[in-house]
Amino acid sequence: MTSATPQPLTKPAVSEEEVELLLQIGLRNRWHPICPSHFVQDRPLSLYRLGLKFVLWREPDGSLHVQDDHCPHRGAPLSLARHLGDRLACIYHGVEIGRDGTVLRVPGNPGCKLEGVKAVKTYPSAEVAGAIFVYIGDALHPEPVAFAPPPQLVSDEYDRFLCYTEWRTPYRYMIDNNLDPMHGTFLHRQSHSMSTGDTAARFRARKTATGFIFEKVTQRDVNFDWSEWCDTGALYARLEIPYPKSVGPGGNFGIIFMTTPITDRLNANFFWRNRKVQGWQRNVWRFLYRNRLEARHWHVLEQDRFVAEGIEPDANEREFLYDHDVGVARVRRWMRDEAAAQIAALAAAGQPMPWEKPRVTA
Ligand code: FES
Ligand SMILES: [Fe+2]
Repeated sequence: MTSATPQPLTKPAVSEEEVELLLQIGLRNRWHPICPSHFVQDRPLSLYRLGLKFVLWREPDGSLHVQDDHCPHRGAPLSLARHLGDRLACIYHGVEIGRDGTVLRVPGNPGCKLEGVKAVKTYPSAEVAGAIFVYIGDALHPEPVAFAPPPQLVSDEYDRFLCYTEWRTPYRYMIDNNLDPMHGTFLHRQSHSMSTGDTAARFRARKTATGFIFEKVTQRDVNFDWSEWCDTGALYARLEIPYPKSVGPGGNFGIIFMTTPITDRLNANFFWRNRKVQGWQRNVWRFLYRNRLEARHWHVLEQDRFVAEGIEPDANEREFLYDHDVGVARVRRWMRDEAAAQIAALAAAGQPMPWEKPRVTA
């Protein structure tokens, strides 16, 4: 578990523009999923995420490395490099970069001062439940915070499938979507799992050790009735929807949702569909999921995509929120406060902001 960034004693003023700049590229000092594990095979892969451009590559034993996609010589993308097993050789002039970002060889100019320098930023990374996570710290937090993945992703008590999408919508609208249980009753009313229950509800929000829960006071385990926002070193929403009896034995259908900005209008979504099932019940669920449920779940997700991509990026400047949107309002405030705290701490320490390009020092 991690805790929110403490406010400095003397608070430098943080402007809304600065908050917006940080939120557009994503909060720092957290682990973020950036792509499914299978995206990275035997060739270097270039990915733009969180305002950064990464190269991802594996050694022959499968170990993964995530680095800036930028050669320290003259900036050629390392994702175009020749893969030499334990290192990348830049395609432009052959400079060789090792797994920790050290320049191992400058073949055109042996003995040059660049050799032995740790010149390529290398990010802490981990693979969890079929996704690649990267720790992105700001100038004050280069060392990774602890990351406690939810049990739905790592415990044997649960089974899970990762569903990955890239949608043309600001990532924050997808966080809103997952903190908005009421859309299940309307947008998904013709689905197999969200067709029943009241169409009007009263809600409450309550604090938890790692975030908050937004839940219906009037109904539980009938439809999409609650959603939880969690910060355990990574930021995610957790929710459950009851399954009809036709979907075999086991608990509710659960979703762990994370989203990562690609650009300010494009996002990467990670939905881990999970169920608390063990033994033969797990096999039944896996069979049913692959043969019947997956298509239905994709159909439901298409409904979300259709709406989310239709919302203008500036729609949040002319909204009318009502009681059912308290979860949305609260998670937005949570994000805003965390962004402001990160910016204030950096400003107080005279450190560069995450959206500024790193300064080259001699
Ligand atoms: S730009 Fe990479 S070796 Fe020259
Ligand atoms: Fe939805």
